[in-house]
Amino acid sequence: MPVHISEFFTRIAGNPRRIIRTGQALDGNASSLARAETVAAAHAALFDDVAARTTVRHEEIPLNCTRQPPARRASFAFFDEWLSRQPLDERRALDVGCGRGEVSVQIALGGARVSGVDISTESLSKARTLAMTHGVADRVALSDSNAESLPFDENSFDLAVSAGVMSFVDFDRVAEELARVIRPDGTVVLLDTLGHNPIANLGRRRRLALGRTTRFQVDHILTTNHLDRLRASFGTVEVHAFDFLTVPMMFVEDALVRIHPCLLRVTAPISAALRALDRVALRWRPLRRYAFRVVVFLRRPRVHEVA
Ligand SMILES: C[S@@+](CC[C@H](N)C(=O)[O-])C[C@H]1O[C@@H](n2cnc3c(N)ncnc32)[C@H](O)[C@@H]1O
Repeated sequence: MPVHISEFFTRIAGNPRRIIRTGQALDGNASSLARAETVAAAHAALFDDVAARTTVRHEEIPLNCTRQPPARRASFAFFDEWLSRQPLDERRALDVGCGRGEVSVQIALGGARVSGVDISTESLSKARTLAMTHGVADRVALSDSNAESLPFDENSFDLAVSAGVMSFVDFDRVAEELARVIRPDGTVVLLDTLGHNPIANLGRRRRLALGRTTRFQVDHILTTNHLDRLRASFGTVEVHAFDFLTVPMMFVEDALVRIHPCLLRVTAPISAALRALDRVALRWRPLRRYAFRVVVFLRRPRVHEVA
């Protein structure tokens, strides 16, 4: 369900209070560079801690949408299906904010040579192990780099993916960087959440109160205005919207996982039914603004346009 843009509309910190104070300090008069460094340091600490706490065995992490609880799967399943149709063999791919490397390894298993960048060294270490576990370490190059200043030449990649990252960074700066490094015929894919759904926003406020994300991230959650701004860097912006009726079910699943992950099997058929209903409901344009997740395809980077 492609949507024309004009019609459309992260986790446990080891010492959450320290992270949130860092986020609040960002409101001061620091220079923009110092401010950007403080934001990046806060997010590196947050995700280092998330990665250090992860106890899931690497070989048990599914490298497709099934690593998400059933109510959250729709956009990831859409991405899996799209990716399976891409000619990846020996193509060059970039995973911006690769985290623990699930998407990087998924793409590498399709035959591409992947560069994964992240600012969390602990996450990168997990990503390295994941790539080794799946036998693609020679095809996944990981680097401790900031998405706002990518260490790659212009026109380096056929495919670039950024999953769940754009609200942690300077959105316009990273969009420009993606347009710079992607080849003229390449595709950038953003998988992210939108900030217009009031129920999802309750969840965000709760996570902030519990110290599971930063004030910066909550304040910079994507809006339709961000999506419109992508037109400054890309000639084609194609938005696909997911998750409306599934949103309350995400809260139910979060509660069930805390009791025991096996309980997700009980509600899986309900989540599947809600995903199917969403496919119909989100055909109605005014509702798309309230979708929880979007998958955005960006093509024709404007840096190649003749003045
Ligand atoms: C919500 S996680 C998503 C991780 C991964 N893409 C995935 O789908 O599981 C956000 C990731 O963005 C990374 N990140 C945040 N700010 C960044 C920046 N300025 N440059 C590079 N990575 C960044 C974090 O360290 C974290 O790994």
